[in-house]
Amino acid sequence: MNIQIINGPNLNLLGVREKSIYGDSSFETYFAELQARYTNIILTYYQSNVEGEIINKLHEVGFSYDGIVLNAGAYTHTSVAIADAIAGIKTPVIEVHISNVYKREEFRHHSMLAASCKGIIAGFGLDSYRLAIENLIVK
Ligand code: DQA
Repeated sequence: MNIQIINGPNLNLLGVREKSIYGDSSFETYFAELQARYTNIILTYYQSNVEGEIINKLHEVGFSYDGIVLNAGAYTHTSVAIADAIAGIKTPVIEVHISNVYKREEFRHHSMLAASCKGIIAGFGLDSYRLAIENLIVK
């Protein structure tokens, strides 16, 4: 089973950026923990700050992988192009957020992507990613 994790803009700064919201672990550290936990899955990780590169990755894996866990960061709230990419591929995509976006500023309450995704998981810290993987495993 192949699952791709995709992180969008500013998520390369996890562990450094706004620690009171996003925690103090880097994604690389957390990703190593996920890989150690799910040894029977091929888990891969990609991060980009560039909208088009996120779309390219969705196209690349979206016809052959079993699941995609996507935290599109702020593009969640703005990107018609990423929404179209999710709608255009075959692999199910789960939208995740580290923070509970509904407890935050109003502009974070709307997702452009959610309607094209299998579901959304938000507010569980980095554990949001594990919860998404659990869903993809069960199918
Ligand atoms: C985020 C929430 C977004 O609103 C924000 O722009 C991010 C991170 C989260 O994981 O909580 O960059 O997606």
